[in-house]
Amino acid sequence: MNHLLSIEELSKDLIWKLIDHAATLKHERNVGTHEHKPLQDQTWAMIFTKASTRTRVSFEVGIRELGGSVMFLSSNDIQLGRGEPIKDTARVMGRMVHGAIIRTFAQQDVLDFAEYSDIPTINALTDDAHPCQILADLLTIRERLGTWENKKIAFVGDGFNNMSRSWMWAAKQLNFHLAIAAPSECLPTAQYIDRLDSSNVSLHTDPIEAVKDADVINTDVWLSMGQEDQAEKEAQFDNYQVNSELLKHAHPSHIVLHCLPAYRGKEITEEVLEAYADVIFQQAENRLHAQKSILSKLASRHSDKF
Ligand code: CP
Ligand code: NVA
Repeated sequence: MNHLLSIEELSKDLIWKLIDHAATLKHERNVGTHEHKPLQDQTWAMIFTKASTRTRVSFEVGIRELGGSVMFLSSNDIQLGRGEPIKDTARVMGRMVHGAIIRTFAQQDVLDFAEYSDIPTINALTDDAHPCQILADLLTIRERLGTWENKKIAFVGDGFNNMSRSWMWAAKQLNFHLAIAAPSECLPTAQYIDRLDSSNVSLHTDPIEAVKDADVINTDVWLSMGQEDQAEKEAQFDNYQVNSELLKHAHPSHIVLHCLPAYRGKEITEEVLEAYADVIFQQAENRLHAQKSILSKLASRHSDKF
C-alpha cells in the first residue's frame, strides 16, 4: 500500500489487516505499552480545503504518537488557495515532507497529489470518498457486534455522498449486506451501480425496507460540505430521519452510527443521538486508532510488516 485514496482500491485482506492493527494500537494505547515510533524523524503535511474536527485532531494526535511531526495547512494559508495547481503544490511538498493528508472537494486532486508528489498520500475526505471514516466504523462494528460478516448495515440519508459511496465499496469487498435508503434523486446512478458490480448492495426509497432487521443503522448529514445552499435537495429528506419510530423496524440488538457532525432534528433526532452516544463517540475515537494503523502501514510500505 503506497497511498490510501479510497476503499475501492483496498483488498479484503488489507482491510482486515488495517483493522486488526488498529485494534492492537488501541489496546497498546489503553494499557500504555506502545513504543514503536514508525514516523520518527518524519514530517507530515495536512492540506485541508474543508472544515474538520475529528479528522484533523485524530491525525495530528496520531502522527505525534507515532513519533512524527505534523504541519496543518489550510488552503487559505498556502498558494493553492490562490490558484497554484495541485500538481505544482505536490511536487514541492513531495521534496520536503514524508507524507500528506488531504481533505478537499475533487477526488482527482487527491489522485493528482499522490501521482505528482511521490510520497504517501491519504484521502481525508473528498466529495467521492471518506476511506478513513469507514475503517473506524468497521472497527466500531467489530467491537460492538463481534463481526461485520453476514450483518445487515442500513445507510439512511444521501445515498450518493462520500460516506454512502465508501460504504458501497466496503460492502463489495467484505461479507455484509448494505441497504441504502434515499430519495430517488439521491441514489447512486445506474452507471455507478454497474461499475460497483456487487450483489451485496441494495437500493431503497423506503427507509423502513432498508432498516428492517438491520444490525447497524448508519446516517450522515443530508447536505455535505459544499452543498449547504441546496435547500431543494434538503427538502427531499423529510422521510429519511433516523428516529425512534424508524428504529422499531431494526434488529433488536442494533447499533446506530453517525460519522458526525450531526444535525439534530434533521438526519437524526436528539433523542436517538443521545441514546446511542456511547457507540457514536466510540466511533469518533476510533478515527485515531484506525488512522494510526494507516500511517503505520504507509510508513512500512516497503515491507510486509506494520
Ligand atoms: N467525521 C468526520 O470526518 O468529521 P470531521 O469533518 O470533523 O473531520
Ligand atoms: N458527507 C459529509 C461527511 C462529513 C464527515 C460531508 O462531506 O460533509
